[in-house]
Amino acid sequence: MKAWIIRKGSTSLDGLQPIERPDPAPAGREILVRMQAASINYRDQVIATGRYFNQEVAVDTVPLSDGAGEVVAAGPEVRRFRTGDRILGTFFRDWIDGPPPAVGRVTALGQSGVDGVLAEHVVFHEDNAVRIPGYLSFEEAACLPCAALTAWNSLVTQGRIRQGQSVLTLGTGGVSIAALQFAKANGARVIITSSSDAKLEKARGLGADELINYVRTPEWDRAVLEVTGGKGVDHIIEVGGLGTLARSFQAIGVGGKIALIGFLAGQEGEYATRNLMGKWARLQGIMVGNRTMLEEMLGAMEVNAIRPVIDRVFDFNEAPEAYRHEFAGRHFGKVVIAI
Ligand SMILES: NC(=O)c1ccc[n+]([C@@H]2O[C@H](COP(=O)([O-])OP(=O)(O)OC[C@H]3O[C@@H](n4cnc5c(N)ncnc54)[C@H](OP(=O)(O)O)[C@@H]3O)[C@@H](O)[C@H]2O)c1
Repeated sequence: MKAWIIRKGSTSLDGLQPIERPDPAPAGREILVRMQAASINYRDQVIATGRYFNQEVAVDTVPLSDGAGEVVAAGPEVRRFRTGDRILGTFFRDWIDGPPPAVGRVTALGQSGVDGVLAEHVVFHEDNAVRIPGYLSFEEAACLPCAALTAWNSLVTQGRIRQGQSVLTLGTGGVSIAALQFAKANGARVIITSSSDAKLEKARGLGADELINYVRTPEWDRAVLEVTGGKGVDHIIEVGGLGTLARSFQAIGVGGKIALIGFLAGQEGEYATRNLMGKWARLQGIMVGNRTMLEEMLGAMEVNAIRPVIDRVFDFNEAPEAYRHEFAGRHFGKVVIAI
């Protein structure tokens, strides 16, 4: 079969290379999946360039955590799936339910020797896969295991979002656009920021209520306070990290919840913790989510007919171009590779 790997020690996209490998075979409770589509997350560009939590790529690894395909063979002990089922792999292996396992005890696909999904065939343990609802295409389903689940966990599972609340989501990448969709489906008012007016208009088309260009309005926290009558918001999808946190502390309302998710705006910054204290606000770290959350999210998406927003689909042999498109940050929503 054909696959792509990120070479050991990779520091640039030159490390992303095509290979030929024997087809894997499923044993015990494993399923063999003919992959149909995969999607790229910001994490994947950081891994490919050897900057993921300052860890270099230790061994050659098949990249990408998020993929969808069809079961073509199953080990003798498989009970959850049959040949022909359309499945989606989970981001983490072996985190089915409940709180996250201890740090270091849970592994995610596509890093540090844990092969990901950018291959024609992939073997999953049956516990690490879920069924794709019939209304979603493989390309759409491949957008969901990391970015969308992170948004769902932040707003719904941990955030317990309620009708009429307000949500601030930063930028228009995979996590933020999924957050916009989930917030609207839950009857919330959404404020979204972007560096691009054209992307803001697209966000309006998905129901965003207030649009702020964070380049033209670098003090976007003030703009958030203005449009909320000085109250601030109930939820923030914090994908910027230390580079945006100080402003999020200003923009959050009393009793609000900040889901600390990413580091798009860098790992350096200063922030005044008293702003959080005085507002009884919460800052909660989020790491994607477990399989049960993924199943709950898929159920809610089906009822609400929510379709992931795909910016562009690339062919399997165009994987480096797909990565470059994601690296450039020109996308709105998700970048997908058809396999
Ligand atoms: N903790 C977790 O479980 C988890 C899960 C998923 C992702 N993440 C992290 O969350 C972040 C987003 O991931 P993603 O896959 O959604 O990324 P993505 O799709 O690559 O999104 C990139 C977009 O972020 C926006 N952006 C960049 N710098 C920004 C800034 N200073 N302020 C506001 N927006 C900015 C830009 O939007 P515009 O073009 O509109 O300006 C850019 O297009 C990453 O740091 C990723 O590592 C964490």
